[in-house]
Amino acid sequence: MKITVIGGGNVGATTAQLLANAELANEVFIVDIVEGIPQGKALDMYESMPVNESDTKIFGVNDYAATKDSDIVVITAGLARKPGMSRDDLLKINASIVTSCAKSAFEYSPNAYYIIVSNPLDVMTYLALKETGLPKEKVFGMAGILDTARYRSFISMEIGCSMQDIQGLILGGHGDTMVPLPRFTTVAGIPIIDLIPKERMDAICKRAAGGGGEIVKHLKTGSAYYAPASAVVQMIESIVKDQKRILPCSVLLDGEYGYNDIVVGVPAMLGKNGIEKVMVLDLNDEEKAMLKTSCDHVTETIKEAIEIIKG
Ligand code: NAI
Ligand code: 2OP
Repeated sequence: MKITVIGGGNVGATTAQLLANAELANEVFIVDIVEGIPQGKALDMYESMPVNESDTKIFGVNDYAATKDSDIVVITAGLARKPGMSRDDLLKINASIVTSCAKSAFEYSPNAYYIIVSNPLDVMTYLALKETGLPKEKVFGMAGILDTARYRSFISMEIGCSMQDIQGLILGGHGDTMVPLPRFTTVAGIPIIDLIPKERMDAICKRAAGGGGEIVKHLKTGSAYYAPASAVVQMIESIVKDQKRILPCSVLLDGEYGYNDIVVGVPAMLGKNGIEKVMVLDLNDEEKAMLKTSCDHVTETIKEAIEIIKG
């Protein structure tokens, strides 16, 4: 297993280290545009492997030749948010960065699975799909696991129970319009609506939707990376070990939920063939309306991104 992580910043470097510590690959390559950064970080991680008892080899590079025949490519390259910026503010600059990274990586690794992380996530995943021409099973985005992890953390804080017993789901675009689904959330099988009053659940959903912004406000110089990197690694583990986990992933829809030619977060089965199945939930009218608002926003942003790419 050879995994390439493009972008050796906060998310990329943390992802590479977690992958190596878990020995999910024989080789991990970090690619960054800045000379010295991927080399220095990779060597530092390589030197931590004896202590971490892992035989994964980590390399840092500035071009793509060494990444040839990667099995999985993760794209984290691009700008991260600063306070006051929305994920969509990143659109202009990240659209061209992600398109060029996808193009260069695909040239050397046409058979890889591509996991997109750069923001605005759903739109960047759409651009990477179009740039590589790969099917939706092979190019998808990470956001839903992160959003749902935040939601699960806040529920755990509210109840005081183990996070492991909380199952939940957030659908839609990775942004303020994301759609938390209390009706599909349980604690050890007990419906959440029987455990937490509606007004508290509304507050938890709102905090989850603004979870990325909450971290940006604290950090001031960038956005979250520990939870995002853990989420990427969970996706990779499910592919590498063919676990067939059902995880919220950003996937190109082909009629599911009544949408076409749009990438948004949906629960999907992730295994050795990438996205093996999209799970379709029976949404009520309120949930459908929220999903529509979210999809409308993503569609508009995809249109804007296409105009930017056309120049
Ligand atoms: P960062 O600023 O720490 O790292 C970005 C790295 O990309 C930098 O090292 C930079 O040199 C590199 N880079 C820029 N242009 C490049 C190019 N053309 N080729 C190769 N490398 C290039 O940012 P961070 O925190 O790692 O975030 C990365 C991206 O991921 C941002 O767009 C951020 O918004 C997004 N993100 C998305 C999440 C999600 O849930 N989907 C969660 C967290 C971050
Ligand atoms: C987050 O939700 C920055 O999109 C990223 O933290």
